[in-house]
Amino acid sequence: MAVAPGTAERARHWDEVYQRLDETRVSWFEPEPAFSVALLDELGVGPGLSVVDIGAGAARLVDALLARGFGDLTALDVSDEGMAQARRRLGRNAGRVRWVAADVRSWHPGRRFDVWHDRAVFHFLTEPADRDRYLAVLAGALSAGGRVVIGTFAGDGPPRCSGLPVARYSPAALVSVLGDEFEVVRTCRQEHRTPAGVVQPFTWLAARRRR
Ligand SMILES: C[S@@+](CC[C@H](N)C(=O)[O-])C[C@H]1O[C@@H](n2cnc3c(N)ncnc32)[C@H](O)[C@@H]1O
Repeated sequence: MAVAPGTAERARHWDEVYQRLDETRVSWFEPEPAFSVALLDELGVGPGLSVVDIGAGAARLVDALLARGFGDLTALDVSDEGMAQARRRLGRNAGRVRWVAADVRSWHPGRRFDVWHDRAVFHFLTEPADRDRYLAVLAGALSAGGRVVIGTFAGDGPPRCSGLPVARYSPAALVSVLGDEFEVVRTCRQEHRTPAGVVQPFTWLAARRRR
């Protein structure tokens, strides 16, 4: 797969966002990744499994999983700036996570993962070709029987985030994106409250690959 169009622009955009704002001031900040952890629990994801967090930024999922004893964690983001904030926060524990600066649309993982987690990244792919690229990378990166947790803005969520347009998903729409290869275990709605106090509804999906 060649470099996806627009990777450099996207990296610059997100680098600038994270240089300007501390992790606790971005609209998507959450002190505890409660929905992510609950859905991973529901999928039976334990510390023996490998997890990749797509578009991890400065998110605290890695902290939560390290605290639970996970030993094979990968964080990927098109911008290294958000992940740099996470590394500073984690201190010496940062060395227990593999940090990958890459565009998910053109990523070559070179291995498979048991779990694919994505909070608020897939919805930035507003072009069908980009969604196809993402799904092709997901298909190649996930092991047989692997688990997926994806959170996007809900149908009544905001039309833009961080100055960029987003695609919004009902539970049914998100299920149909993944297709028949996945058995859906749970869909749910989260009313995320931004640091400024604004409610942003999310749609979450937890699924297991059939084969
Ligand atoms: C709204 S933030 C969410 C960050 C994190 N998942 C969280 O929940 O805090 C979106 C993240 O996706 C990253 N991102 C956007 N497009 C990407 C792409 N094509 N490939 C990889 N990461 C991307 C951004 O750099 C940013 O860190």
